[in-house]
Amino acid sequence: MAKDVIIACDFSSAEATYAFLDKFTGRKPFVKIGMELFYAEGPEIVRQIKARGHRIFLDLKLHDIPNTVKKAMAVLSALDVDICNLHAAGTVPMMEAALEGLTRADGSRPLLIAVTQLTSTDQQHMEDDLLIREPIDQVVLHYAQNARKAGLDGVVCSPLEAGKVHAACGEGFLTVTPGVRFADGDAGDQKRVTTPARARELGSDYIVVGRPITAAADPVAAYERCVREFVG
Ligand code: C5P
Repeated sequence: MAKDVIIACDFSSAEATYAFLDKFTGRKPFVKIGMELFYAEGPEIVRQIKARGHRIFLDLKLHDIPNTVKKAMAVLSALDVDICNLHAAGTVPMMEAALEGLTRADGSRPLLIAVTQLTSTDQQHMEDDLLIREPIDQVVLHYAQNARKAGLDGVVCSPLEAGKVHAACGEGFLTVTPGVRFADGDAGDQKRVTTPARARELGSDYIVVGRPITAAADPVAAYERCVREFVG
């Protein structure tokens, strides 16, 4: 699996997104479209960015009954994105249904990855709010194994968990990892951060990088630096 940098396009409008993407005159970065942009602009934003030649990770984190997720995934499949995702907490039957919905008549489909536990969830909240008593790293691994069992292609996790996930689920099982910062950068609200170079050492397949690129004085230079450090 080729390593790559995915830019989190966390903008609230199509105009702001295009203004950002227009800065990239050479290569076409892999981009992540999340809930904010998708809910603001609808599926057309996906078609437009695809038409500009970018690969797309559509980060909508589906979680509902299997039948609903299956039908929603069939709609997303028609958008021709490269990666989409759901919550592993929806259980194995939900993930299997999602995969079915995503698969087109010709057998092709976007990659499907699962969110294990959100990085905003800590041990305390998991125990108090969700009544899950196991250590959080075991929960993450168990959810990753469930995703593998359901036939998914990988998980969203911290670069710090990438090695364990690969050991449990195989080297080909994708780890897509946010929480990346330059050594001389600001961590912002991310708690456990690693540099692009460290994420590479830890075995991440894709790093998802937002503000270190989108809020940089020179976003193209920041992206190129990220690619140099992560891909080599
Ligand atoms: O700006 P920053 O680099 O922190 O952006 C990281 C991106 O990855 C954001 O779009 C955020 O929503 C997403 N993400 C995350 N942690 C997760 C899952 C997704 O930071 N566990």
